[in-house]
Amino acid sequence: MDLNVAITRRRPVREYTAQAVDERSIHALTDAAVQAPSAVNQQPWTFTVVREQSMLDQISREAKSHILANMPPNLQSDHFRSRLTGPSFQIFYHAPVLISISAGAQGPWIVEDGALAAENLMLAAHAAGLGTCWIGFTQSFLNTSNGKNMLGVPPAWVPVAPIIVGYPKTPPPPVPVMNRRYVGLAESASSSG
Ligand SMILES: Cc1cc2nc3c(=O)[nH]c(=O)nc-3n(C[C@H](O)[C@H](O)[C@H](O)COP(=O)(O)O)c2cc1C
Repeated sequence: MDLNVAITRRRPVREYTAQAVDERSIHALTDAAVQAPSAVNQQPWTFTVVREQSMLDQISREAKSHILANMPPNLQSDHFRSRLTGPSFQIFYHAPVLISISAGAQGPWIVEDGALAAENLMLAAHAAGLGTCWIGFTQSFLNTSNGKNMLGVPPAWVPVAPIIVGYPKTPPPPVPVMNRRYVGLAESASSSG
């Protein structure tokens, strides 16, 4: 797939078919992820793959309670609260796979490194006909000792980018791109025409 097409058409997928994602496809995604740039070429990425639905359900329940108990006031909207308190809302949208990108150690740029790896992974998934969505709602829970325990990662690892993966039920709708601001460049028609 043309890179510009992948960049433009990748959108978060929140409805998945029950089709499993095979190991080869998951390896292809992590192969793309590790091509990302990383600060001082540390390549701090580790990948934790969770496919048992019972475990994803359990993490979802724990993460929801954790957010509701710890959400900063500026993020407490009725919309979030009603979603998170709904017992039927599964935070992973019943996707067949969670790939949690963690840093294997602390460092000043692990979040940037993880995010770059995540974007590569999401673009590669889109090119392969797979859907993805970054599930930031789980991050604070996954960073607790209970969360790391459930993921099966060592205490020193830092979960940075939890990405769900699966086959989309329907193509995701486009998301409007907001106005951007420039300094040093005239605001003109988009270069993509
Ligand atoms: C750091 C981060 C955290 C996110 N967390 C969630 C989440 O918890 N649940 C969710 O449904 N989408 C989540 N998303 C997806 C965003 O809502 C989505 O990227 C946004 O609506 C813009 O759509 P786009 O990816 O098509 O540009 C997250 C995205 C990012 C980058």
